[in-house]
Amino acid sequence: MKNSIGVYGLGVMGSNLARNMANHGENVAVYNYTPDLTDQFVSRHAHSRIEAYYELEPFVRSLKSPRKIFLMVSAGAAVDSVIESLLPLLDQGDIIMDGGNSDFHDSNRRYRALKERGIHFISVGVSGGEEGALNGPALMPSGDQEAYRQVAPILEKIAAQVDGKPCCTYIGPEGSGHYVKMVHNGIEYADMQLIAEAWQFLHQIVGLSIPETAGVFKSWNESELKSNLIEITAEILSKTDQETGKPMVEVILDKAGQKGTGKWSSQEALNLGVPSTIMTESVFARFLSSLKEDRVQAESLLEGPSPSGEEMDKDYWIKQVKEALFMGKICAYAQGFQQYKTASEQYGWSLQLGDIALIFRGGCIIRADFLNHISDAYQENKDLSNLLLAPYFLEKTNRYQASLRNVVMKGFESGLPLPCLSSALAFYDGYRSARSGANLIQAQRDYFGAHGFERIDQQGTFHARWLEPETVTTSVKVNK
Ligand code: 6PG
Repeated sequence: MKNSIGVYGLGVMGSNLARNMANHGENVAVYNYTPDLTDQFVSRHAHSRIEAYYELEPFVRSLKSPRKIFLMVSAGAAVDSVIESLLPLLDQGDIIMDGGNSDFHDSNRRYRALKERGIHFISVGVSGGEEGALNGPALMPSGDQEAYRQVAPILEKIAAQVDGKPCCTYIGPEGSGHYVKMVHNGIEYADMQLIAEAWQFLHQIVGLSIPETAGVFKSWNESELKSNLIEITAEILSKTDQETGKPMVEVILDKAGQKGTGKWSSQEALNLGVPSTIMTESVFARFLSSLKEDRVQAESLLEGPSPSGEEMDKDYWIKQVKEALFMGKICAYAQGFQQYKTASEQYGWSLQLGDIALIFRGGCIIRADFLNHISDAYQENKDLSNLLLAPYFLEKTNRYQASLRNVVMKGFESGLPLPCLSSALAFYDGYRSARSGANLIQAQRDYFGAHGFERIDQQGTFHARWLEPETVTTSVKVNK
């Protein structure tokens, strides 16, 4: 009997996805470029529905037509070389899926190149880490809709399920699935940094012990903040290091790593001209964290406020921080979804933002209860310009903005950096200001570069004669 799907790449993610498919009744062929991982897979995960291959040709020949091959290899050049090696063995109409964290520009290119050769290419954003891969990830597939229909039964079955719905839906053309995964990771970075700031505030300013902060996060996970990241934070904070007896988090070096998807997401926000400030701050915060040696030296040289020694009202501040965190999260997700909207318009993808929120409810790292409200907001108004304007979020932000302000002011007053919480507040206040300070910037640009400006009372582009000696400066209409 032929296999219904092949999984190429037997790292942890590939192995677990193959097992997930087999557990859902699919006959799966697996292959890895080097035999060591195949050996390991065979010895650890033998399964009646999985056939392991050591040669590429029989692996491909074992697949039902049209062949469906799921790549789970490192993003970048490896994906291209695997595709090159597969091409001579494939027929028109066969389907290659790429489940890695690939750059969506690469996915667009691969989609087009393969289309010319009659092969379908589906970019599949996969979220949920190794646990999700085995028990139900969130999947973000894109490419030709017709090709997606052929793989949908498998993908939708192995995805996480929430309220009877799979956390997998067709995203859009070309590499849009990897785009959606990339911004998911940008939001993930922002969310993680916001949580870290809230935690530091509770520990350093409010004076809670680490086990006490674990308890706070545990209780928050039973509130509107309920989400995977809050839940794992509570668990992390309650762990003790066996060697020292200290809380585990205290013995971990405070330098954050990254593989690049958060940075890509911010770079892409800059390219599109959208203010995804919170995720971008979170990328910079990771960079700053990695300057450990500098920070250690600077701590003894650079001055800041002295500890106030003030007795904090713990219950009051825990509530303030909770509301500030929720406010920060709302702003971060609002920015991420605004980035989806702009990308969709710019690239002609017709992304369904409500559906994206729905598939993020389960399986993925940023899964959270409040995604239901994001989905509802777009179901009610699919042209919504920003989530902050949807009724649920309006009500929340109007209620919680004062807490965010309070926490940021207290943090700043105490010398605690809160890059993402303060960025959320700056975005919120900037977004709700009908009049910004950009009129002065326009004047400066016109002064030194004759770049022109628009007036609030007349149509057209104007230039002012800034250097003429009159006290009253005239502006003249210019052709642009
Ligand atoms: C996911 C995660 C996953 C991975 C991140 C980590 O959705 O399952 O986002 O893709 O854990 O890429 O990224 P950094 O190493 O950049 O923090």
